[in-house]
Amino acid sequence: MQQNSFPKKFLWGGAVAAHQIEGAYLEDGKGLSIADVVTAGGNGIAREITEGVLPDRYYPNHEAIDFYHRYKEDIQLLKELGIKVFRTSIAWSRIFPKGDEEQPNEAGLAYYDALFDELRANGIEPIITLSHFEIPYHLAEAYGGFRNKKLIDFFVHYAETVMTRYKDKVKYWMTFNEINNQADGQHELHTWTNSALRFEEGENKEEITFQAGLNELIASAKAVKLGHEINSDFQIGCMMAYVPVYPYTSRPEDLMASLKVMQRRFFYSDIHARGILPGYVLKYWEKMEYQIDYSEDELQALKEGTVDYIGFSYYMSGTVTTVEELQGYPIADFPQAKMLNNPYVSASDWGWQIDPVGLRYTLNLIYERYNLPLFIVENGFGAYDQLTKDGKIEDGYRIDYLRKHIQEMKAAVLEDGIELLGYTPWGIIDIVSFGSGEMEKRYGMIYVDKDNQGNGSLKRLKKDSFNWYQQVIRSNGETI
Ligand code: BG6
Repeated sequence: MQQNSFPKKFLWGGAVAAHQIEGAYLEDGKGLSIADVVTAGGNGIAREITEGVLPDRYYPNHEAIDFYHRYKEDIQLLKELGIKVFRTSIAWSRIFPKGDEEQPNEAGLAYYDALFDELRANGIEPIITLSHFEIPYHLAEAYGGFRNKKLIDFFVHYAETVMTRYKDKVKYWMTFNEINNQADGQHELHTWTNSALRFEEGENKEEITFQAGLNELIASAKAVKLGHEINSDFQIGCMMAYVPVYPYTSRPEDLMASLKVMQRRFFYSDIHARGILPGYVLKYWEKMEYQIDYSEDELQALKEGTVDYIGFSYYMSGTVTTVEELQGYPIADFPQAKMLNNPYVSASDWGWQIDPVGLRYTLNLIYERYNLPLFIVENGFGAYDQLTKDGKIEDGYRIDYLRKHIQEMKAAVLEDGIELLGYTPWGIIDIVSFGSGEMEKRYGMIYVDKDNQGNGSLKRLKKDSFNWYQQVIRSNGETI
């Protein structure tokens, strides 16, 4: 009989990140992180990065959903939901408040001990991202962020500290969250949150971002190697944002444009997974006369620290064209082409193109490219939810999004033979949005009573999607 459920070991879970849930931004010795100086924006309104924390501005991450104090209560809900794994991150600045200290902050280490113990005691395995947009602020101020090679050592020291401390509590790790988000160097929020970069007038942002990205890849490779020495059972992955960009027309130039745009996004995972600098990027640096600094030892480190699996987020797809008459929006890293909305798919209230088939396509594309196990560590639907008078959240639209994506994921596993470790939908509990800093761009299956201005009781409520996902997990994906 044909199998209709996922493999027995499939890891159903949920994902969040420390700075988007914990709050307690200065508690127990934590230092400021780069996330702590980013104000709230809105739908279509950019967040602002300020010089330190200003008294008259609202920073949504400072309290977030107060998971720092409420994690026991939240874990009970996650247990009821039935998840097997919980992906979160360690806030680097809880462990090394400034980032360049020799000795870690014991109170920060003890907090994650308690969190991981509580998860495990409730049958949930933690999956940990080492750096999810939360580099210590001091490393940006005093060193200029990842453009500076000293950050490689600071990151490796941090990674070694936490991997050693939690070697019996955490098996699955990821190094840098959505490291390829910054690819073109043009989005201030991304170059800040990925690499803690600020630019001087006249600097070449793309060149500096390539340098910072390569420094992170070297740091990641060194951490992977060390991690395997600390515990040979560790599974250490990368974390990529995969947005497949299709050719808008069947014009051969559009196909080529889509390939070129995708290469820029693959640059990071090509190095993570293959341990070499791809020819297309070396040629690009040559053409642009970029002086990217790397040594023979660093090239060797890249080879020795390739990842065990590819973790990635998938939310949407895009299209690209070179047809002059068509109107689109520019792509900084490929000026010959422009991006367009795909007329065959719909979009969320934030304009994110909803394309479940793109997930199956991506799974195939990545698996063929790297032949490594894959892990969908983010996927989900950001939407405005309404709380009914009797305290319900009827989020059928979210169920619809997740159901269609899980169906495609199932086809990829059962029909295409993709080796997929698990699925951790994003923002399993409502959290502060990264891109806009809103609370009301909600992804969760658990509602958190808080609005965009920071008002609310922080009370947790189960949404309809909670009951639905519980069934999906119970049936191991047979009932979707
Ligand atoms: C990814 C990030 O970019 O997408 C998360 O890893 C983020 O941190 C998620 O929250 C969704 O994006 P947003 O902007 O809707 O929160």
